[in-house]
Amino acid sequence: MLTKDENELLTRVSGEAPMGRMMRNHFWIPAALSHKLVADGAPLRVRLFGENYVLFRATDGRLGFFDEACPHRGASLALARNEDNALTCIYHGWQFRVDGVTVAVPTQPQNEKAFCERVPLRHYPAREVAGVVWVWLGEGDGKGKFQEFEFTALPARHVVAFRQKVACNWLQGVETTMDSAHLGVLHQSATAGVGDIELTAANQAPVYHLADKPYGFRYASVRTLQDGRAYVRTNSFVLPWYGVISPRYSTDQGGNVFFSVPIDDENTWYWHIAYRIDAPLDPSEPRLLYRDADDWPPGVPGTAEDNWGQDRDVMARGHFTGFPQALGTEDFAVITSMGPIVDRSREFLGAGDGAVIAVRRTLLRTLREFMAEQTPALARHEHIDYAEIRPRATVFEGEAQWRGLL
Ligand code: FES
Ligand SMILES: [Fe+2]
Repeated sequence: MLTKDENELLTRVSGEAPMGRMMRNHFWIPAALSHKLVADGAPLRVRLFGENYVLFRATDGRLGFFDEACPHRGASLALARNEDNALTCIYHGWQFRVDGVTVAVPTQPQNEKAFCERVPLRHYPAREVAGVVWVWLGEGDGKGKFQEFEFTALPARHVVAFRQKVACNWLQGVETTMDSAHLGVLHQSATAGVGDIELTAANQAPVYHLADKPYGFRYASVRTLQDGRAYVRTNSFVLPWYGVISPRYSTDQGGNVFFSVPIDDENTWYWHIAYRIDAPLDPSEPRLLYRDADDWPPGVPGTAEDNWGQDRDVMARGHFTGFPQALGTEDFAVITSMGPIVDRSREFLGAGDGAVIAVRRTLLRTLREFMAEQTPALARHEHIDYAEIRPRATVFEGEAQWRGLL
């Protein structure tokens, strides 16, 4: 449980809210899927932290990332012509090169060149890694601040990225990512027969063991099974919103990174990057068939008025939740049902919420450091080896050998 003030501090990210400023000034922000951007194609509208931007691929393949509103009189640059490595606003023809330089103001009868130099176009660094475009919205150019997770160095066929828009605050997304206890309940139908992850339903009360890390924290969620073995999932929370989460099968050769990026205070992009280290991903894996889909997994199929589209017939036939679309849809339904920003002063938490509580403590500590004008300890990228953060799901015989994985 949090106070109302703590809840506000943690959840608000737009405008001058400290959480948003902390995120933007210390971390690169995932903004779009690379394959949506075609050279000289339509600019993509991007909304992050309550502000609107356009992202486009120039003629030569470079990326441009500008404020959406034309600096002249505010027409959307999503309507602009994209050609000759520049955007040309269709209203009065002002032209902005991909690197943010204004190169033409045809409505200026004289001194056009000098006028161009004074046009206050706001543009930002962007880079492509692992099929995702990441942008820098903080002060400076973000050099040395990119978090080089293990998946960022893998060949393209080893990594896939998906995302879906969810109508709730970003922290509800992070909490469901890190909450191991819900796996064997909410997802029991989705995970039945799917690798070792189905063991989460065999014991719905995992015991958490937590360890602080330079990037956040890591936990082992331990489920003792009836035969005396233990199913252990070792996952990490990485500032500001990443969960590095174990795969479905016992292996240390891959994983999932889930992250919840604020569109504004009440809307979130829920991202999923799946990767495999030792081999390319199997293209026949069902989820990979959707890699070119606009959004995946499917969003909530309804609204509060129709119980978010829950299918009671499917439930009557044995599906636990009535959201048979995908495992992720089940998460989206419950976190949306909590309301746009859940009031954490009204919760009643138990031992199964250890990871959720740790997420909040870690974020509050970081935020207080930021508000005291320090570089937060967990954002000192030069001291953190993000590539060594590897999730692990394992079934152990007897003794607590999993301790070595923390
Ligand atoms: S509003 Fe864009 S050129 Fe005038
Ligand atoms: Fe989930």
